[in-house]
Amino acid sequence: MGSCTLSSGGVCVVVVLLSLACCLTCARGAVPAIYVLGDSQADVGNNNYLLHSLLKANFPHNGIDYPGGKPTGRFSNGYNFVDLIAISLGVPSPPPYLSISSKPMNSSVYLKGVNFASGGAGVSNLTNLAQCISFDEQIEGDYHRVHEALRKQLGIPGAKAHLAKSLFVVAIGGNDIINDLLLSPVSELLRSRDEIVSNLENTLKRQMQTLYDLGMRRLFFVGIAPLGCCPLIRELNPTKECDAQANYMATRLNDAAVVLLRDMSETHPDFTYSFFDTSTAVLQSIRYKEVKAACCGLGDNNAMFLCSPASVYCDNRTSYMFWDVVHPTQATVEKLMKIAFDGSAPLVSPKNIKQLTES
Ligand SMILES: *[C@@H]1O[C@H](CO)[C@@H](O)[C@H](O)[C@H]1NC(C)=O
Ligand SMILES: *[C@@H]1O[C@H](CO)[C@@H](O)[C@H](O)[C@H]1NC(C)=O
Ligand SMILES: *[C@@H]1O[C@H](CO)[C@@H](O)[C@H](O)[C@H]1NC(C)=O
Repeated sequence: MGSCTLSSGGVCVVVVLLSLACCLTCARGAVPAIYVLGDSQADVGNNNYLLHSLLKANFPHNGIDYPGGKPTGRFSNGYNFVDLIAISLGVPSPPPYLSISSKPMNSSVYLKGVNFASGGAGVSNLTNLAQCISFDEQIEGDYHRVHEALRKQLGIPGAKAHLAKSLFVVAIGGNDIINDLLLSPVSELLRSRDEIVSNLENTLKRQMQTLYDLGMRRLFFVGIAPLGCCPLIRELNPTKECDAQANYMATRLNDAAVVLLRDMSETHPDFTYSFFDTSTAVLQSIRYKEVKAACCGLGDNNAMFLCSPASVYCDNRTSYMFWDVVHPTQATVEKLMKIAFDGSAPLVSPKNIKQLTES
């Protein structure tokens, strides 16, 4: 045959286009997808699908500053921290798993990242403040299924390579502390808070190892916030000051996470991570006009109920640290993620997100 037939010419064109598309993708960023696990800070709407969940945010005034002013299930006035990371990396903020879980295993949707986070989840599977998808279920049920889907589509080495380049985001642990604080008698808490933390540490270690076994190689781990300073917990304190027990436990769990991640990266040289010390960043680096009251809520300092259509809300969301009784405003996560993205130790270490995801 002297020349390309029409059909083989067609194949050439397709091949050229595919390699062009690949170059464009490669040039845009080193991260093909984001896989997110955790609690309400990261939830982008999974709880909307849980019939009996008490922790939902898919109604006003949530989302008042989100594009279109639309409530989506995010516990925020606007974007949450995962959205901001996605924007910085030039990839889509991944959809809630339950919005795509009915798609077949060969659907390409799983290649573009998935958000498994569910409001109310905790490290311990007993931490289930209301109906939620527990962290164990997120890992061993939902993510495990997506992992299977990736292997089916890309082959075992292909899935491994895809996941090794992807960014994993984990934000978990805050609810375990809030739960213990609200449900344990003070005397018991004082006696057992170190024991509580050490149990959480062991469980978290098993969970991170499972994620490693299922392909996680680049992890952004969000440390626990200084929960004692959120409006919900302040309100329990007669002086309305930050609660020292809660902040102590947050710091201890963060210290434990730092050690655990460092050990993991020593055991597995192909595992890299970025730990963000939310506690220190919030307490030291951020100044607001209003740090005590929630923007949206009811009662003293708007600290009595989660944001709902019946709530009052503040006019100027950029001057408030908290959107509702526990969750930060978009303005707060913008400041925090700026540090996480290109800041340095001790607030973000051993790498920032930019260093973690380049190349
Ligand atoms: C996915 O699998 C179904 C059968 O399970 C098949 O009908 C469909 O064509 C497949 N789709 C793709 C994109 O491979
Ligand atoms: C909860 O965790 C315990 C141990 O950590 C485990 O044995 C148990 O199977 C878990 N339960 C569920 C429902 O996942
Ligand atoms: C909102 O608050 C910020 C920070 O306190 C301030 O810089 C800004 O001027 C305020 N905007 C309005 C419209 O009051």
